[in-house]
Parts: sequence; structure tokens; C-alpha cells
Amino acid sequence: MVPSLSNLARARQRLLFARGFLANPRGVGSVIPSSPRLVGRLLGGLDWSQVRHVVEFGPGTGVVTRALLARLGPDARVTAFEINPEFAAYLARDIADPRLTVVPASAETLASHVEPGVDVAVSSLPFSIMPRHVRTGILTATLEVLAPGAPFVGYQYSTAWLKELRRFFPDLSVRFEPRNWPPAFVFTAHR
Ligand SMILES: C[S@@+](CC[C@H](N)C(=O)[O-])C[C@H]1O[C@@H](n2cnc3c(N)ncnc32)[C@H](O)[C@@H]1O
Repeated sequence: MVPSLSNLARARQRLLFARGFLANPRGVGSVIPSSPRLVGRLLGGLDWSQVRHVVEFGPGTGVVTRALLARLGPDARVTAFEINPEFAAYLARDIADPRLTVVPASAETLASHVEPGVDVAVSSLPFSIMPRHVRTGILTATLEVLAPGAPFVGYQYSTAWLKELRRFFPDLSVRFEPRNWPPAFVFTAHR
């Protein structure tokens, strides 16, 4: 069971997130965490009941992570990659759930931390404003670890970069979610 956050915990989370944004605007990409609507749109299209292993990229302060854990069964696990050390420490401390492993490193290192056969990859990364070699490294590693046919879901604040994503994942669909700041495009791709 994943407990919901108190107002005080939510305020602390937002403050931490804004501090992370000010320290690294291009890495964090947004000044506030994703809205419940965006998180619902991101995770709502998949059947989580049979999912055993999820990799998450860019959990930040954990809005997506908490929602994921709430949907997953007791034997599932989430391996979350976060480059901001403050966010990674906060997550490891605040989400006391044995199904979650936080890796305080870039998602580029994915293939050295998890075995192939991953059921779902979930991304909150601001791919379009990352250096090209970083996003290429992450997408290559994602293809390497995902099970055949497994979904890769994520969101972006513009559609500009989706053409590049389609070169890695030709089977790609996109939906718009206006109820977030900034409004976002949610993608679902399959390996
Ligand atoms: C837009 S925030 C999303 C935070 C949260 N998941 C949400 O939806 O509110 C992007 C997150 O990706 C992290 N990040 C950026 N580049 C990364 C990388 N190469 N590997 C892992 N995390 C990264 C940032 O530190 C930040 O926490």
C-alpha cells in the first residue's frame, strides 16, 4: 500500500523540486512536478496486473513513482534512475517500499544495472533539451533491456523530438494532455 502525501509533505516535495529546477533547468525541464492528470494519462493506458519489472527514468520527487507502485502487484519491482542526488536521496528515504530501487545515476547506465526482459519503461526525461549523445545512449539501452513488444511510455512538452524517437521506436503513438503545466504530449512506443 502506498500512502498518499500530506499537504506538508507535498509542499516540501514542491520546494525540493523547484530547487532542483533552479540548480539544473535543462536537466529537470519543469518547475513543478507532473499533475495527477498527466500521471494518469501516462500510466492509464497499460494493464499493470501482469507487470513484473518496470524501469523508470527521471523520477524526480516521485509523483510517477508513487502512482506506479500503487498500480503494481506485490511481486513487482521498479528500478528508478535519477541523476539529481538530492531527489535520489529524498526518494530512497521517503518511499519506504521494498519494491523500489533508486539508482542515483543517469538512465544511460541502465544496461549495467538491469537484466534484459524488462516489462515496461516509463520516462519523465526532457529528451528534447538533452545533449544528443545522452538521449541516444538512453534509447539504445532501453531497446537493449526491454522485452520484445514491451511498452515504453513517456511525455514531452513539445512534439519536436518525437521524429527522432520514431527512428528508435517506429511503433509510436502520441496523445496530448492539456491539464499540466506545461501541457504535455504523452507517447507510447513498443519495442
Ligand atoms: C521533468 S522532471 C520529472 C520529475 C517527475 N517524474 C515528474 O513527472 O514530476 C525530469 C527528471 O529527470 C531527471 N533527469 C534528467 N536527466 C536524467 C538522466 N540522464 N538520467 C536520469 N534522470 C535524469 C531530472 O533530474 C528530473 O528529476
